[in-house]
Amino acid sequence: MGFKIHFPDLNRRIESGEKETILDSALNAGIDLAYSCRFGRCGVCKILLLGGKVEHLSHGKFSLTEEEKEEGFILACRSVPLSDLILPWTHKSPKIIS
Ligand code: FES
Repeated sequence: MGFKIHFPDLNRRIESGEKETILDSALNAGIDLAYSCRFGRCGVCKILLLGGKVEHLSHGKFSLTEEEKEEGFILACRSVPLSDLILPWTHKSPKIIS
């Protein structure tokens, strides 16, 4: 059974699939969360967990540090819900052209 993920900034609640990452659940529901590599290397999908618990799947040690984890940050592409969750919405940044 999946869990509910609440995005209060968007006034949206979505269902997560069983063992589905937060990023995949959000994208499948049409919520445009920020991401790049999708396998725990870049850190672009880092997000502050406002409520609930997640399982952290393997990821690069610099994309999410132990200190950041203690502060409540997660990688959306490498986190699976273990309970209902509350998350902020951080949409993809536009590409910066210099
Ligand atoms: S998208 Fe790169 S670490 Fe999640």
